[in-house]
Amino acid sequence: MQFEVFTLLPEVFPPYLESSILKRAIQRGLIGIHLHNIRDYTHDKHHITDDTPYGGGGGMVIKPEPIFEAVETVLGLASLPSPPTPVPNIPIILLTPQGRVFNQRMAEELTRHERIALLCGRYEGVDERVREHLVTDEISIGDYVLTGGELPALILIDAVARLIPGVLGDPTGAKDDSHSMGLLEYPHYTKPSDFRGWKVPDVLLSGDHAKIEKWRREQALLRTFNKRPDMLEKAELTKEDLKFLKSLGFE
Ligand code: ADE
Repeated sequence: MQFEVFTLLPEVFPPYLESSILKRAIQRGLIGIHLHNIRDYTHDKHHITDDTPYGGGGGMVIKPEPIFEAVETVLGLASLPSPPTPVPNIPIILLTPQGRVFNQRMAEELTRHERIALLCGRYEGVDERVREHLVTDEISIGDYVLTGGELPALILIDAVARLIPGVLGDPTGAKDDSHSMGLLEYPHYTKPSDFRGWKVPDVLLSGDHAKIEKWRREQALLRTFNKRPDMLEKAELTKEDLKFLKSLGFE
């Protein structure tokens, strides 16, 4: 899967991409992350990418021309004056606090695409014509405002990339994740079995896989019930699950 990232700050990406599981995924050719500096698509002497907003007010707005040119060039879209035709199957995603709030389902959906374009905003935002005539989707990573879309883009890349087969060392790694089943994940323990008198639950040392599975499912349900009861509304629950949840007081 290829990510085409359009940004004014390409230098913030390599430190993370070159020191995580993603580094190995890139080396093994499972993902490719291509960074495109929007500034490279300016044509004036000072390479200006932003300007003051029409109508006044504070802050600067990223100009439409370099963004359109960068995305059209890299994705091979027909250029202006006719509006670019969206390339089927390549989503052009603007990272913005005004977008749909990102979640695990959206990460799973994005794995279906071979190529994804991510557009990182900065300053007060991007010229509205980018939103209207270039992007195909807008995604927010949560209801708070950051200084730009670079961290959100990295978060999206990380969440999507780890779902691609082979990226995680353990092929079942993403299966039981919190959120992947619509529930929070059960607790994990490793050695020692006794740390400062705090013991690992006996069932995990029992070697009885059926019992361990049951315990893990119940712990996932218990955690979700205690921490994120809202998630239970949408989770796929079996009769057994419902019986257990009722015993906790779930209606
Ligand atoms: N840019 C600034 N804040 C953001 C957010 N919460 N999500 C996505 N992009 C952003």
